[in-house]
Amino acid sequence: GALGLVDEVADDVLGAARRLAGRGKRERPATADDPGAAVFEAQRAAASSRYPLEPARVAAVDAVQAATRMTLAEGLAEERRLFAGLMATPASRGLRHAFAAERAAAKLPDHVKGATPCAVRSAVVIGAGSMGRGIALALARAGIDATVVDRATDALAAAEAANEAVRGRDVAKGRLSEAAADAERERLAYAEALPTGADLYVEAVFEEAGVKRAVLAEAAEAGGPDAVVATNTSYLDVDALAEAVPDPSRVLGLHFFNPAHVMRLLEVVEGARTAPDVLATGFALAKRLGKVPVRAGVCHGFIGNRMFQAYQREAGLMLLEGAEAERIDALLRAFGMPMGPFEVLDLAGLGVGTAMRSEHDPADYEPRGHAVHDALTAEGRLGRKSGRGFYDYEGGAKSVSDRPTALACELAAQYGVARRELSDEEVTDRCALTLSIEGFRLLSDGIALREGDVDAVMLHGYGYPRARGGPLFYARERGLQTVAERAAGFARTVPGGEQWWAIPSQLTGDT
Ligand code: NAI
Repeated sequence: GALGLVDEVADDVLGAARRLAGRGKRERPATADDPGAAVFEAQRAAASSRYPLEPARVAAVDAVQAATRMTLAEGLAEERRLFAGLMATPASRGLRHAFAAERAAAKLPDHVKGATPCAVRSAVVIGAGSMGRGIALALARAGIDATVVDRATDALAAAEAANEAVRGRDVAKGRLSEAAADAERERLAYAEALPTGADLYVEAVFEEAGVKRAVLAEAAEAGGPDAVVATNTSYLDVDALAEAVPDPSRVLGLHFFNPAHVMRLLEVVEGARTAPDVLATGFALAKRLGKVPVRAGVCHGFIGNRMFQAYQREAGLMLLEGAEAERIDALLRAFGMPMGPFEVLDLAGLGVGTAMRSEHDPADYEPRGHAVHDALTAEGRLGRKSGRGFYDYEGGAKSVSDRPTALACELAAQYGVARRELSDEEVTDRCALTLSIEGFRLLSDGIALREGDVDAVMLHGYGYPRARGGPLFYARERGLQTVAERAAGFARTVPGGEQWWAIPSQLTGDT
């Protein structure tokens, strides 16, 4: 048409293609006032601002534009030239690694290879909070009958309304047919009493060991000896929880991410006594739900939250040392994270971390790295939901607050941390490389089995930039020698450096 995007509408497609292939490029508009040029320019700008790390996005627009200006043979040659140039980019390597890592992660780990998963036709999800209802929704979408159980009737009603609202939006957007929505509704039930005889029980009640143990015991009794019993705990000891049921080999962790019907990561947590068929059930279930399963061992926070805590620790320490929250956030966004560390906390709510740390042995984490967070929590600055956190949210709009910096100055003095100028490079490296270091540590601790597993967790659970492959691939791209040198530097100069930047064994050899 007028834009030169459509040449011809044909019934005889082959004939038309032959005719068009023989046509000269002069038949296409290609002058500066070519109205199509502005369209392509806008597409290029959108692609590079939305995917700054992925040059292929812009090149794809270039290739389409070439098709409007060149003969078929010239266009194909141009496309090949663009493709060859992209093949050698870091983004290409990162994206290919990400693809391979998530496929490998979904395979049953070697030590349980051949185990047969248990059939899951029906499931019970205990706890109708944001996680429980999302998990039930994910199950129902995959064709599994799911009952959400909660003691609080208002929580059940809220869960049902929330799932109904998700369906309403999905139907309105054309992502879900009316028929599929009806079928999904049919598969979901909301009840106060625990149904017996289901194949799978998943608890998503409060993050308190006592409450969870009691609920798991009830679930095991309702399910009988063949049922699989799962906990969605974020950081509690799965082995200790499993002791609450008669047969701990039937227990595993299924750590979903919020919102559970959207986020693709599923950490499948293997307890010391989890049976191979129970672990295999977690993997088979993930496949049915369209999720990326990653096997994790038992430790505080498993793979993802343990890495995230390291990342938050460095960001929090840098606040004390002199970098502002908004600057750290902007630099991590520039690195490719969808949000900076403090923006994420404001969204998730600061209270969760403070409550978790109150039960965590201070020797096992870095209290200074979370001191500003805890001070904000104490002031009722709980994040977006309270209208204030690291940022202020007047009427929903985010603006920079000077409160975190004021608190950081006070706390730095209190802890004897010297305030100084931090370079952009230091800010980015401390957050990015602490993820790499923690990832290597998870491997040596046996919590993660494969480098790609660690990468898949960060890609699918935390929005780590896919073009960078994941934190361990990133370390390999930077060069393990370089990473070791940076770590050694931080070990000498930053608070807690000796402990947190100790060089993992993988970086000392020539692997
Ligand atoms: P929530 O506080 O929103 O919901 C918990 C629900 O459990 C409440 O509706 C409560 O009435 C119900 N409940 C408590 N005790 C019960 C009992 N004995 N029997 C039946 N129902 C009971 O919590 P949320 O955020 O949904 O988290 C649930 C679990 O999922 C926690 O273990 C949490 O650590 C974990 N998790 C949370 C994530 C998040 O982003 N919110 C992400 C991944 C895991």
